[in-house]
Amino acid sequence: MTALRPANPERPPATDSVEGLSAQEFALFQRLVYVHTGISLGPHKQFMLRARLQHRLRALGLPTFTAYLRYLRCQGPDGEEMGRFINAVTTNVTEFFREPHHFRFLAERWLPAMRERAIREGRRSLRLWSAGCSTGEEPYSIAMVLQEALEAAAPAWDIRLLASDIDTDVLARASRGTYSLERVAWLPRARLVRFFLRGVGTDTGLVKVRPDLARMVTFRRINLVEEPWPISARFDVIFCRNVIIYFDRPSQERLLRRLLGMLQPDGLLFLGHSETLNGMFSGARLLENNIYQWGNHELHDPCRR
Ligand SMILES: C[S@@+](CC[C@H](N)C(=O)[O-])C[C@H]1O[C@@H](n2cnc3c(N)ncnc32)[C@H](O)[C@@H]1O
Repeated sequence: MTALRPANPERPPATDSVEGLSAQEFALFQRLVYVHTGISLGPHKQFMLRARLQHRLRALGLPTFTAYLRYLRCQGPDGEEMGRFINAVTTNVTEFFREPHHFRFLAERWLPAMRERAIREGRRSLRLWSAGCSTGEEPYSIAMVLQEALEAAAPAWDIRLLASDIDTDVLARASRGTYSLERVAWLPRARLVRFFLRGVGTDTGLVKVRPDLARMVTFRRINLVEEPWPISARFDVIFCRNVIIYFDRPSQERLLRRLLGMLQPDGLLFLGHSETLNGMFSGARLLENNIYQWGNHELHDPCRR
């Protein structure tokens, strides 16, 4: 295991060896970011963008942001640098069991409903998607809840948990499943012991998710604004939390419509605390805390109290 200590991308650079970012250059980057990621960078993000892209200019030995724009254009949309550019502009803040009420809901209301469904319909498969999973804390938290509830069940459940992001750096870290001890120190001891291995020697201060937990999650790069998504499954649950806050309203609506279209009837969409469907889609009903249920609720409501 290797230490995961990325430099803080928000921190101002120690030296100002590249020329500043002009309003015109910023506008061109804003457009590029929007077209390739759906992320809408407001004017207040100019300093942040400058700080983050300076690393790329230095790495490539380019003197100006205009030179970097030219470089990106020459490489084209599928070029390696476009991927690095996208990785540099995404915001990846996350944590284990972020918004804990969502995980309580899964454990206390949704999973019991799924057990009842299994008895009624004989269906013991679950399909879940963490869209915009960042460094993996969200899908691993979901996997922990599923294991706690269903591990001892017989016959076994067929569970598939897809976790995707646009950013290949965070996906690589998520796949490694290695975290600093501080990031998990606050978890209940039972979860720590059951789901993590503690690093020793050069890995002291790190933990790694246990292989049986890691095996439950499939990480893939999926750009949520690209069409179509390379997914054929329909999901019982989609987590897409703290992703659309970076999008403008038309991109939010488009993405939310597509996500709802990926749900099974009565499937659930979990959004972040400041995100809402806000009456956009009549087929989606708010259950609680930005959890929406999609489909024919009159006939069958697996999450009714
Ligand atoms: C703030 S993190 C949220 C992580 C996690 N869902 C949570 O709530 O803790 C937002 C994530 O969305 C990803 N993202 C942004 N635009 C995306 C896009 N167009 N397609 C896929 N992922 C995207 C970012 O790379 C980032 O990792």
